[in-house]
Amino acid sequence: MATKVFPVLPLGPIVAQRGRASAARLGVECIDLYQVHWPNPLVPISTTMTGMGRLLDAGLVAHAGVSNFSLAQWQGAEAALARPVLSNQVQYSLAARRPEAELLGWAQANDRLVIAFSPLGQGLLSARYDVSNRPGGVRAANPLFLPENLRRASGLLDALREVGRAQGASPAQVALAWVIGHPNVVAIPGASSVAQLESNAAAADLVLSDEQNEWLTAAADAFVPRRGLRAVPSMARSLVGRGSG
Ligand SMILES: NC(=O)c1ccc[n+]([C@@H]2O[C@H](COP(=O)([O-])OP(=O)(O)OC[C@H]3O[C@@H](n4cnc5c(N)ncnc54)[C@H](OP(=O)(O)O)[C@@H]3O)[C@@H](O)[C@H]2O)c1
Repeated sequence: MATKVFPVLPLGPIVAQRGRASAARLGVECIDLYQVHWPNPLVPISTTMTGMGRLLDAGLVAHAGVSNFSLAQWQGAEAALARPVLSNQVQYSLAARRPEAELLGWAQANDRLVIAFSPLGQGLLSARYDVSNRPGGVRAANPLFLPENLRRASGLLDALREVGRAQGASPAQVALAWVIGHPNVVAIPGASSVAQLESNAAAADLVLSDEQNEWLTAAADAFVPRRGLRAVPSMARSLVGRGSG
């Protein structure tokens, strides 16, 4: 069982109190993994980790984790705790590969875990969206679903479909198998139905061949979505309903 503390003011006593309250609400004597949701720009991590240390000492938490931490911040958290910080929960998928630069190698070399959030690119990698069928809600504001980026993703989505056909699996399952095929990486996909949840759990048994992994990685290398400031004009056009990208 894993949960997080949202670090509005993550002073030691507050983290310790939040951890105790979470365990009580969850009805457990010990939280397996307690994660600091974000680095806090104002409160030093040494202060936050004082509270985490108290929870570990009391047996209320079995392992400390962090989320959205850079490698330097993760290592800083460990130094402050003077114990391992088992995991770092970060965005990681075929459509968001920044953790490969530093985090994965360090986790693999040091017996730590990268927990991949949004491993399906918020649904992009299910390959069921395209320019004529874009998701609504909060995803309408996600640059990945801009018409231009959906067009740019077509090669990657085709690769997912094709590997899926060869494996008797869905594109979403292939995308998850690619993520968790990396040593020391686990994934926490979201699901909008029980059927999706079951399908995602079944993906844990899917093993891709080296050739399939390489093909997907090459297709992901070739997918360069328009993000940041360069995405703003397309985003503005899209939000006012002239979604030509
Ligand atoms: N640590 C953090 O800061 C942070 C930030 C964001 C998220 N997270 C965590 O990460 C978890 C997952 O991330 P996420 O939900 O943002 O993105 P995700 O797992 O990449 O995408 C989930 C979406 O993909 C679609 N989907 C899921 N399974 C599918 C399947 N088998 N077939 C087809 N479509 C499928 C569903 O949307 P549709 O069916 O509607 O298309 C679902 O809502 C969340 O539970 C959240 O707690 C953590």
